[in-house]
Amino acid sequence: MVETPRLMGEGSSGVAGRMKGRRIRMERTLITGGAGFLGSHLCDFFMGLGHEVICMDNLIKKENVENITHLIGHARFKFIKYDVTEYLHVDGKLDHILHFASLASPKDYLDYPIQALKVGSLGTHKVLGLAKGKRARFLLASTSMVTASKPVASALRMI
Ligand SMILES: NC(=O)c1ccc[n+]([C@@H]2O[C@H](COP(=O)([O-])OP(=O)(O)OC[C@H]3O[C@@H](n4cnc5c(N)ncnc54)[C@H](O)[C@@H]3O)[C@@H](O)[C@H]2O)c1
Repeated sequence: MVETPRLMGEGSSGVAGRMKGRRIRMERTLITGGAGFLGSHLCDFFMGLGHEVICMDNLIKKENVENITHLIGHARFKFIKYDVTEYLHVDGKLDHILHFASLASPKDYLDYPIQALKVGSLGTHKVLGLAKGKRARFLLASTSMVTASKPVASALRMI
């Protein structure tokens, strides 16, 4: 059985969702690509903040499931194996959406060219639509090529 970690905001007095006797609203955060390298760390981070975290990932990179096994079974964590390029619906409110679903490496582009294009375009469109519907804050992870790649970065400076 997987032992669920104790996280910030969950003391022995069961204070999750409470502060000084007052009930506080639990934030709900969706992380697409949540099983990936960055997404899984973001799952840990937002769990640590006491949010309810929904991790959505199609596990096209199957091995990534290991990044989130320590969270499976936690009461505030939900994993949904799903492709964000499909019809997208999540029950209940969402306060934040972090869109990290991606096929980001040059190897991924070659292994999955169509899926790479789809998740960056159609996937972003679907997730934006969900954010609009839920009036959620939206964060899109951009490729590091925009900031780290010298030719692209210098081309951008010229614009
Ligand atoms: N890793 C870095 O150093 C870095 C730096 C800057 C920007 N970024 C950006 O951050 C994002 C995430 O990067 P990462 O390194 O965590 O990548 P990653 O490959 O580790 O994770 C991406 C996850 O998205 C999932 N995924 C792919 N297509 C999907 C789909 N259609 N539906 C649902 N899930 C899908 C994959 O299964 C994977 O688990 C990318 O956009 C990347 O360009 C990464």
